Amino acid sequence: MPEPRAPEPVVPDAAGVVYGAPVSVEREQSQSRRLFLRGGLAAVFAFVAAGCTPGHKRARSAATTTTGSVPSGADSGFGSRIDVGRFDTIVASIAQTGTPRYVPEARAYISPFPATAAAAARAVYPAEARAALDAGVVVLYQRCTHLGCRVPWCASSQYFECPCHDAKFDRVGESRAGPAPRGMDLMAASIEQGRLVIDTGSILAGLPLGTDTTGQKPAGPYCV
Ligand code: FES
Repeated sequence: MPEPRAPEPVVPDAAGVVYGAPVSVEREQSQSRRLFLRGGLAAVFAFVAAGCTPGHKRARSAATTTTGSVPSGADSGFGSRIDVGRFDTIVASIAQTGTPRYVPEARAYISPFPATAAAAARAVYPAEARAALDAGVVVLYQRCTHLGCRVPWCASSQYFECPCHDAKFDRVGESRAGPAPRGMDLMAASIEQGRLVIDTGSILAGLPLGTDTTGQKPAGPYCV
């Protein structure tokens, strides 16, 4: 059996995402907790500073109005429920760019799911992923199900392609080739008050090998 290829050099892309290096769920969660605590401290200092000004009551009232539409229970750290923004805006941006939307704080991609395949997919997708499916998207965890490298999107093939050992996944994360033991893992998501909320604490096992609900073929050359 041929030896697996050595991982590519670790180089961040334009969005600061590092591919070609295995990541662990625990490390991502602790990194996120640190960022969250830092953000929380900054918010406390900002609040105290606002309290020192005569207009602080007006400022607090304006802040309540601004955040009033955020679904309850939504948080900002990996491992929690993350409010990603207005669902219709996200869908429009995906349609405009033709590229799945990467959400760094959720370590996930939001990828469109063809309406023609949704009925067949409903029968095999986990129940927690069906609300997103019914709305026309899947939320895919970025971590490769082979050995954990981050998986980037390839614009030419229109597949997700892992740079470490060549696993390939189609647009909805179902495995198409390579050593991954299943499709990309999914995250539970819901549409609440018109906003997409991803539950990053609920990572669902990807679909078994051989699942092909969309029949998508590569649109051009592979990146890997
Ligand atoms: S980590 Fe081996 S193919 Fe992705």
